[in-house]
Amino acid sequence: MPEAPRVASSAHAPTDEAGREGGDRAPRARESIRRLPASKIREVADAASGLDGILAFWFGEPDLVTASFIRDAAKAALDAGDTFYHHNLGIAPLREALSDYLSRLHVPLGAAPVEASRIALASAGVNALMLAGQLLLGPGDRVVAVVPLWPNVTEIPRILGAQVVRIGLHVDARKQRWSLDIDRLFAAITPGTRAVIVNSPNNPTGWLMPREQMAALLAHCRRIGCWVISDEAYERLVFDGTTLAPSMLDIADPDDRLIVANTFSKAWQMTGWRLGWLVLPEALVPDLAKLVEFNTSCAPGFVQQAALVALRDGEPVVRAFVEQLRVRRDALLAALRDTPRVRVAKPEGAMYAFFSVEGVKDSLALAKDLVRAERLGLAPGMAFGDEGEGYLRWCFAKPVQALGEGVARLRRHLLGLGR
Ligand SMILES: Cc1ncc(COP(=O)(O)O)c(C=O)c1O
Repeated sequence: MPEAPRVASSAHAPTDEAGREGGDRAPRARESIRRLPASKIREVADAASGLDGILAFWFGEPDLVTASFIRDAAKAALDAGDTFYHHNLGIAPLREALSDYLSRLHVPLGAAPVEASRIALASAGVNALMLAGQLLLGPGDRVVAVVPLWPNVTEIPRILGAQVVRIGLHVDARKQRWSLDIDRLFAAITPGTRAVIVNSPNNPTGWLMPREQMAALLAHCRRIGCWVISDEAYERLVFDGTTLAPSMLDIADPDDRLIVANTFSKAWQMTGWRLGWLVLPEALVPDLAKLVEFNTSCAPGFVQQAALVALRDGEPVVRAFVEQLRVRRDALLAALRDTPRVRVAKPEGAMYAFFSVEGVKDSLALAKDLVRAERLGLAPGMAFGDEGEGYLRWCFAKPVQALGEGVARLRRHLLGLGR
């Protein structure tokens, strides 16, 4: 007798964590992966599909093409036949060059020399964060994160089964700057907390964690035995006349429970190249190499050759970019502060203004309205967590004229809404 056809399962059939469903053969990802939210920034960008004349400031990306001497280095490496696998941890000359670069920046500020043996390349900053997570975090672990925050940073621990406790920044009304109540953070980092994640300069707010707070956090984590994962992707993008944001590297010992993640994407305008790095205690490096093997095996050789040239000759590129960003930030800030219903704290680093709009309860709806009605593309604040509701994020790595036109569109819309 033929087997009776299987009845299709309902969308709500119970599953276990591995995605297995009793008697159901429908292909499904793990439950926790299915529950991951899709990017709300993408959702707004998708709302622009088919529309002309969009002025887009939603993604966190410099508008500049990577400098030609960096591109030439990649082409030369390809022409020389660099098309093979490489060491899990990155090519030795690049690890050495990063060691020199990081030591040159951080030793004068108190850091121990950053030895190449503590440095590993990763296939992008986001991959560096995933590797750090895979090294340290497992199901049930408690992680504390300072938010609002680029969603990738908080979703990675969740993908790995950890529980993320969020501690919100606030705007210091007197200074008009984003600020962290360190005692609230300490209260959240209870014994047993596995890791605290901090991103400074912060995406989306532009907050810089002061050096004293970093030192206090490190001391607290040492007492408790908690790891610090410090995402320093924007460390070079600061606007106070220095060339570097405060870094955990400046204050930590080489064998502290600290992993620093960084990237070539922002400072050298290399977002599409997908190259990042980690600084971690030497004792973890062999385990990291195994994880790199099972994730990507290695970063591409010709991309690493280009990065070598970026480190060697790219300092003027970094400095010119920061100076240009400072002018753009100031122009955007002045225009936003002149816009009714808008309140914005001064971003001290990164490349975003995170501003609130009086009376707005649904930033996703507002961002979609702005796309449809004004052809203006901004990221909804709720994409960075509940703390961001009522806010919009504006990436100011765009020409001043475009920023001005964008604010004019925002103003027109907000005045219209206010009528
Ligand atoms: C806070 C933060 N960390 C890390 C990254 C990683 O950048 P990438 O994966 O391009 O190296 C980004 C990119 O937007 C970011 O905003």
